[in-house]
Amino acid sequence: MERRAGDHLHRIVVTLPRIVIERCHYLAECTEEPGVITRPFASDAMGCAHVLVGDWMREAGMTVRRDNIGNLHGRFEGTGEATLLLGSHLDSVRNAGKYDGPLGVIVAIAAVQRLHDSGKRLPFAVEVLAFADEEGLRFGSTYLGSRAVAGTFDSPDLDRVDTGGTTMREAMRGFGGDPARIDDDRWQGGPLLGYLEVHIEQGPVLEARELPVGVVSAISGQNRYTLDFEGEAGHAGTVPMGSRRDALVAAAVFIQAVESYAQSHDGLVATVGRLSVRPGAVNVVPGGVTLSLDVRHAEDAERLLASRHLTDIASQIAKHRNIAVAIRQDSDSPTVPCAPGLVSTLSQAVGDLGHPVLQLASGAGHDAVAMSALTDVGMLFVRCKGGVSHNPAESVTTDDVAVAIDVLARCLELLAER
Ligand code: HGY
Ligand code: MN
Ligand code: MN
Repeated sequence: MERRAGDHLHRIVVTLPRIVIERCHYLAECTEEPGVITRPFASDAMGCAHVLVGDWMREAGMTVRRDNIGNLHGRFEGTGEATLLLGSHLDSVRNAGKYDGPLGVIVAIAAVQRLHDSGKRLPFAVEVLAFADEEGLRFGSTYLGSRAVAGTFDSPDLDRVDTGGTTMREAMRGFGGDPARIDDDRWQGGPLLGYLEVHIEQGPVLEARELPVGVVSAISGQNRYTLDFEGEAGHAGTVPMGSRRDALVAAAVFIQAVESYAQSHDGLVATVGRLSVRPGAVNVVPGGVTLSLDVRHAEDAERLLASRHLTDIASQIAKHRNIAVAIRQDSDSPTVPCAPGLVSTLSQAVGDLGHPVLQLASGAGHDAVAMSALTDVGMLFVRCKGGVSHNPAESVTTDDVAVAIDVLARCLELLAER
C-alpha cells in the first residue's frame, strides 16, 4: 500500500500521548511491594524501571548511561555545543500513584521521540535525566539524584541508614555506583540552556480553572525534621496514670499542636506523616516515638519562623511531660523562583498552542529545586484529577498529556529559534 507522508505524522500526533500513559502503567509494575507502587532509591524495583526507561530512551535515538548515584541519562545529540536538560524522578513514595515523577521523564522521552521520528536535529543537545531519588523514601534525604548532578550532594548523607540497616553508601554500591566518585556525577557536559521539568500539578488549581497545563512561577521552600521523643516504657496494667512518661501521648499532643498552628497561619502547611512507636505492644506504655515533621510556606521567612516555633513547641511539650526530645533537621530548602526566560518561553509555547496561560506556584518540591543550583529551571504542570497525588488514585488524561508533549516540543522549537 502506498505510504503517505501524513500517515507518519498522524501516528506521532495521535498515539504518542497514549504511549506515554501506557508507559506510566508499565512502570507501575516495577515495585518492591506487589499490588502497590513503592519504588525506593537503588532498589531492585528501580533496576526494573531502568531497564524499561533505558529501552524507551534508546528507541527515541538517545545514548544511555547510568551515573554513580543511580540517575539514568539519555542523550540526543544536536548540532551545537550547548545542552538542554529535561527530566524528573523515577523513585516514589510508599503506595504511590503512577505519575508523580515518571510522567515528566516519559513526556521528555516522547518529545525527543518526536524529534527523532521527524529526523530533525536541534542546534543544541537534549539530555533526559531520570533521577534516582527525589522523595527521600529510603534515606529521608531529598533530591539525591538532582543534587549529585548539580554538584550539591552532601557527602555525610552517605552514612544515612535505611530501616533495614543498610547505609546509603552500601545501597549505591549494590546498585552499581561508586560512592567515592559521586563528584563525577556533577554536570560536566559543557554549556547549559537550562532544565525543564514536566510534572503533575498535585493540587486542584488547574482543574478548577479548566486548564490542561500551567507554567510554574516558583517552588515553595520546605523544612523537614525527625523528632525522637524518649519517655519510659512500662507495664500497661501496673504503672499508675500519674507517674507515666508516655512518649506517644507527648507525640500526640505535639501533632495536634502542629495542626492548629498551621491552621492559624495563612499559607502555612505542616505535616507529621511518619510515626513509629517503641516498643509497639498493646500492653506496654510507649517508651519512645520517632516522627517526621514537614513545614512549607511560599515565603522563606514565614517557613523559618514556623519551623522554629514548631520545634520549640515540641521541646516545651516534652519538658512539661518529663520526656526527652531530640530534633534533627533533615532538610532546609528555600523557595526557588523559576527562571523568567524559561517561564516566558513555556508561557509562549502554551499560548501558541491556543491555551490560556496560567502561571502558578508549586507547593510540592521538585528536582528543579536542586537543579536551580546548576542552571536556569522551568516547570510545566499537568492537570491531575481532583488534585490528588502521593496516592494510588493519581490520574491524568491522555488529552492533557498530549498538550504537555506539544508544549514541550514547541518550547524546544522556540529555544532553537533563539
Ligand atoms: O514532597 C514533595 O514535595 C515532593 O513530592 N517530593
Ligand atoms: Mn512526590
Ligand atoms: Mn515528584
